[in-house]
Amino acid sequence: FSAFLTDSFGRRHSYLRISLTEKCNLRCQYCMPEEGVKLTPRGQLLSTSEVLTLARLFVQEGVEKIRLTGGEPLIRPDILHIIAELRKLEGLKTIAVTTNGMNLARLLPKLKDTGLDLLNISLDSLVPAKFEFIVRRKGFHKVMEGIEKAIDMGYNPVKVNCVIMRGFNEDELLDFVALTEKKPLEVRFIEYMPFDGNKWNFKKMVSYQEMLDHIRQQWPNLEKLKTGLTETAKTFKVPGFKGQVGFITSMSDHFCGSCNRLRITADGNLKVCLFGNSEVSLRDILRSGASDEELLQIIGAAVGRKKKQHAGMFNISQMKNRPMILIGG
Ligand code: GTP
Ligand code: 5AD
Ligand code: SF4
Repeated sequence: FSAFLTDSFGRRHSYLRISLTEKCNLRCQYCMPEEGVKLTPRGQLLSTSEVLTLARLFVQEGVEKIRLTGGEPLIRPDILHIIAELRKLEGLKTIAVTTNGMNLARLLPKLKDTGLDLLNISLDSLVPAKFEFIVRRKGFHKVMEGIEKAIDMGYNPVKVNCVIMRGFNEDELLDFVALTEKKPLEVRFIEYMPFDGNKWNFKKMVSYQEMLDHIRQQWPNLEKLKTGLTETAKTFKVPGFKGQVGFITSMSDHFCGSCNRLRITADGNLKVCLFGNSEVSLRDILRSGASDEELLQIIGAAVGRKKKQHAGMFNISQMKNRPMILIGG
């Protein structure tokens, strides 16, 4: 495994998240401000060939999994071309997408044929009016259709990301767990995280422990499952249910010690930590005509500066970061 992608704590970064666009067809409250965000001019976004050049380089150095994010990755017109080209990279085991599900039902057959391995879909409410309030747009039924289609096409488990916010959807925890009885879904409850423009505050965050206590009142036999070392979610199952539930506890119990993730933003910055704001522009280095070796030196130096863990819930709620829409999760 490449020394360039190993940090000073010995963490090997084999999972790269690439944001393909800053745009989205929804306006989720936890992700961006009502008025939207200032978009990067087109010429300063990574082109398709730049995305593929960087992907090739990272895979050559040991990345085995690439997740495409956004904004909403499935609104990118050349999404199928990108997946098809990634599929050719020897050494890349897994291609994944995190999507809001709006265009999924229509695109899924082609995505699957092209070689998409894994699918995570955001869904924060099972009540159409509440869904529309949280995402500030219509589309509940389209997302549900996308989730159904993903199941029908054999994705297993289909992961459903549900950001729990007090006063919005914490009253739906049990309904989401109940959804896993008949469907092979992994519903992942995510602690609400602070990003620029999302009005995070401690009171709106529902912790892992609180969610677990609430669910255990209904299902005391909720069983903890073994999870891979580098997974973001702690997973559980109600015995007899087809699917499972997970908790992403970035706030109350971070998992930085086993972090294996790097990110590239749509404008071409390498971001070594979701909550780190020291970024380096790979786009500028690429466009200066640098060699692979020069690029790798710069990537290696950035990875080498990665902190042991994020700065803690209250510090990260005060730091300057990008809005989530410009990071991609
Ligand atoms: P899998 O590959 O299926 O494990 O997905 P994932 O959990 O890595 O990715 P996804 O895009 O579905 O993100 C789910 C939630 O986990 C989002 O809220 C992300 O912001 C959060 N998340 C993903 N990666 C990291 C990370 O490295 N650190 C932290 N703190 N949160 C992360
Ligand atoms: N806190 C926690 N999770 C978030 N996501 C977006 N914004 C936040 C936030 N503020 C999640 C979405 C999406 C994933 C990429 O990140 O649910 O599924
Ligand atoms: Fe990795 Fe940073 Fe997330 Fe911690 S907060 S798991 S170091 S990306």
